[in-house]
Amino acid sequence: MEPDPIRQAAELLAGASSIVISSGAGMSAESGVPTFRDENGYWSRFNPAELATVAAFRKAPARVWEWYRLRRQALAKVEPHAGHRKLAEWESRVPGFTVVTQNVDGLHHRAGSRNVVELHGRLDEVRCVHCAFVRRDLEDLGAEPHCPTCGDWLRPGVVWFGEMLPTGAFEQATAAVERCDVLIVIGTSGVVQPAASLAELAASHGAKVVEINPAETPISSLAHACVRSGCRDAIVEIDAAWCGISRTLGGFQGG
Ligand code: OAD
Repeated sequence: MEPDPIRQAAELLAGASSIVISSGAGMSAESGVPTFRDENGYWSRFNPAELATVAAFRKAPARVWEWYRLRRQALAKVEPHAGHRKLAEWESRVPGFTVVTQNVDGLHHRAGSRNVVELHGRLDEVRCVHCAFVRRDLEDLGAEPHCPTCGDWLRPGVVWFGEMLPTGAFEQATAAVERCDVLIVIGTSGVVQPAASLAELAASHGAKVVEINPAETPISSLAHACVRSGCRDAIVEIDAAWCGISRTLGGFQGG
């Protein structure tokens, strides 16, 4: 009989003192935020070269801003789901718990997670292309927003293709992954670097990798257990199994 991946994941969590969650767009899909590479994902409808590069912004800032304006508006209407909230709960169960996310929607924070590394920036942040001006909210800034300090262009506070990650973010992520016992990779196609490399890094440091994704990905072959379902139900079921194990052990062990 095939081992039950939910049970396998729960047993790994019950024995871990340091856990990293690596989340991608599939994590937010069940809150109603589109993914990028699925059938109805953004990149099946739009060309990323025209919307998510510095060159595109220089050429047509109003067009790029229109796309981000719509995404910012949509974000104001979505909520974290039960899976996000469980992950926030898990943070209080184990001594080391880090969420590393490629998502720019801030939903992990809104669900209550505190130790979150945002590799690709945030949709609710805007910054000046010239000076240090940054602001964080979802206000509609109009078609072509300019910096109130220096007058240059304001841009979305996200990472575009070909850009560096926010200072220190990847270093924080790799430090957490190198010391973790378990890495749970949730809802990412595993094709965008350097985020995709975290699974291999974890495995090379002896951590167990669990994947939660309805589809197979390049990360699947590294995984000790693959839960092939939507993330909300998967996380809730893993949580129930973990709680069951902890009851038999007389409480959460934290390794
Ligand atoms: P993708 O759109 O590439 O992949 C989404 C993954 O989520 C796929 O593997 C789906 O099978 C999976 N998925 C879909 N629904 C799910 C669900 N309910 N539960 C669990 N998994 C589900 O998104 P990412 O891998 O996050 O970068 O994309 C990485 C980066 O590419 C993004 O951060 C973005 C994009 O270009 C930037 O904007 C810099």
